[in-house]
Amino acid sequence: MIELAPSILSADFAHLAEQVERATAGGGSVIHVDIMDGHFVPNLTIGPPVVKSLRKATRLPLDCHLMIENPDQYIGDFAAAGADWISVHQEACRHLNRTLNLIKSHECRAGVVINPATPVETLSEVLDLVDYVLVMSVNPGFGGQKFIPGVVHKIRKLADIRGERGYSYRIEVDGGIAMDTVAAVVRAGAEILVAGNAVFGEGDAKLNAAALLDAARSASLVKV
Ligand code: DX5
Ligand code: ZN
Repeated sequence: MIELAPSILSADFAHLAEQVERATAGGGSVIHVDIMDGHFVPNLTIGPPVVKSLRKATRLPLDCHLMIENPDQYIGDFAAAGADWISVHQEACRHLNRTLNLIKSHECRAGVVINPATPVETLSEVLDLVDYVLVMSVNPGFGGQKFIPGVVHKIRKLADIRGERGYSYRIEVDGGIAMDTVAAVVRAGAEILVAGNAVFGEGDAKLNAAALLDAARSASLVKV
């Protein structure tokens, strides 16, 4: 099933509840929340207090994408604030197995993220453990960046490995997902589509979300 995860990074933070509501009305079914610490990525965003407020504003799952060093230190705080899904970067975790189990111990879905330069092979020992794999299609840190087409083969590889080995993780993609890039990632096997700028950038978030979801679903029907 294809799902759209609007990323609030590109939303108007002074009207977050309203913006989330618009994107939900357009078919968004997971709210993607980008957490940045100014160390793992060259930008700063939000922490648990905003997640706590969002929790009251929506019933949709909150997908917290941690772009931070030492994620173990904060996983409990995000879970307590109301995160439903928590993903950590392979590149930020010295003890990835331990960190993923820590997420699960808080009753959250556990995801692992790979940067554009990180191969799928680095995940081979955790694919049986994760609920989802997030493939970055931009270098993390900012919204509105250009999609990197070279990552598409990684989505396909993850779908193949899942089929071959009988795993059950879902495949999420994040970065530069818009009307002109969505078909390629869906055809490769992406099921959860993060979109910030394409939903909240210009125009109405409801219409933008609906159009993007529609394009994604049409692409998933085309056999290639
Ligand atoms: C980038 C973030 C993304 C970002 C995507 O580091 O992880 O979730 O919001 O934004 P767009 O869709 O504008 O590329
Ligand atoms: Zn993200």
